[in-house]
Amino acid sequence: MFETAVRKEIDENRQGEALIIEKEGRKPAAGRLLYIESYGCQMNFSDSEIVASIMMDMGFTTTGNYKEADVIFINTCSIRENAEQRVRNRLKEFGASKLRKPGMVIGVLGCMAERLKAKFLEEEQLVDVVVGPDAYRDLPNLIGRLDEGEKAVNVLLSREETYADVAPVRLGGNGVSAFVSIMRGCDNMCSFCVVPFTRGRERSRDPHSIRREVEGLLENGYREVTLLGQNVDSYKWASETGAEAMNFAGLLEYVAEVSPLMRVRFSTSHPKDMSDEVLEVMSRHENICKYIHLPVQSGNSAVLDRMNRTYDRAWYMNRVEAIRRIIPGCAVSTDIICGFCSETEEEHQDTLSMMDHVKYDFAYMFKYSERPGTLAARKYEDNVPEEVKSRRLKEVIEKQQQHSRLRMEQQLGKVQKVLVEGPSKKSDQDLCGRNDQNAMVVFPREEGIRPGDYVHVLAERCTNATLIGKLVQ
Ligand code: 5AD
Ligand code: SF4
Repeated sequence: MFETAVRKEIDENRQGEALIIEKEGRKPAAGRLLYIESYGCQMNFSDSEIVASIMMDMGFTTTGNYKEADVIFINTCSIRENAEQRVRNRLKEFGASKLRKPGMVIGVLGCMAERLKAKFLEEEQLVDVVVGPDAYRDLPNLIGRLDEGEKAVNVLLSREETYADVAPVRLGGNGVSAFVSIMRGCDNMCSFCVVPFTRGRERSRDPHSIRREVEGLLENGYREVTLLGQNVDSYKWASETGAEAMNFAGLLEYVAEVSPLMRVRFSTSHPKDMSDEVLEVMSRHENICKYIHLPVQSGNSAVLDRMNRTYDRAWYMNRVEAIRRIIPGCAVSTDIICGFCSETEEEHQDTLSMMDHVKYDFAYMFKYSERPGTLAARKYEDNVPEEVKSRRLKEVIEKQQQHSRLRMEQQLGKVQKVLVEGPSKKSDQDLCGRNDQNAMVVFPREEGIRPGDYVHVLAERCTNATLIGKLVQ
């Protein structure tokens, strides 16, 4: 019910969009049609671009209309029960199409595939292929087996796979901003989280392949990259001989040096690992956006301990102080879980007081959802009643709305440097783009301004989520 509006908006905007293929010199053979739909985190959307690339190499062409597809892939998320429910509902719709079009293949990719494995084929009879996040290179083989009338499953996790050499096909984007995956998996064992089970061990991608991808994006007109990882601050790469090594601060600098025209963002940071070194690199480079997503989950140390987050309230506050000291004006956003196992009223109040302390620019807020197999499911009872979870979430959302508004109002009267993304959602007489702090800025269209241009906009009005203003020189 209270799934945050914003994450939903991201999901809904991107699902089933016509898939735009922008890779030059890669004309797909007129062959079978692939439809791919993604749910969940940015990493999943990024993975779908790897999958599309592998499928295009097999001669598939992408389509935005699942009813005409030969193969439908649904790239799934397991993070909360309602994410899985949404996927199951969608599978029913795909199943209806399959009954009308025999021979159509339905594939389940990603985290739900990994969590449920072959069980999926029993539970959802119309599914033909189940592929986990580390097994996409096996797609040609799996699709081949289907052609021979078998069902196919590959859910092997890997310690090495980073798809470093697979050039992603940019799907449904704006041609200005792209995701670049820098690592996979997660070695943190947050007790609520299914990700370590669905995405396996942490591994970092070769920085040179990351830089080459960013250079290629720049040449193709892109002006913003978001470096993706479950926990970017623990990025750690070493060459085989050990002669060369890089941490996240080093990688950030290496990517920022590609061009001052290329903005660099990253997500997600873990409070336990976020170092002053990273903050100092951010403050030195104008093109590294002054925005940090720093999930707190709870403001109470005992809850953080039960969550196995490995930091406490004081540590988190110290990291926020470091951000404020080293990068004044930096935007901070967060994730919050309400109603975790045995959360008391006082513990909940600590989350609200943490919010008052930080005054986040933005937050993703959730009710705790028990996931089978996680540490919390094994160790603690999911004992906060549903109506209490809902009420706490409502309080958290209401507080966040005030803070989002406050942060927007603080920008009024100031000139924003905006990277133009395209027409605004509400009116094609207006253009929109994001400022450094990741706020959406809307302004009247003017002749000659194109997506990918940088413009200056004086912020005159705002909503909780958008700044509205006029162009200035
Ligand atoms: N229940 C509710 N929210 C969860 N998240 C992760 N696991 C769960 C769960 N079991 C949230 C966390 C995380 C974000 C991606 O999703 O806040 O940071
Ligand atoms: Fe969902 Fe987590 Fe998997 Fe991303 S990594 S798709 S958020 S379960």
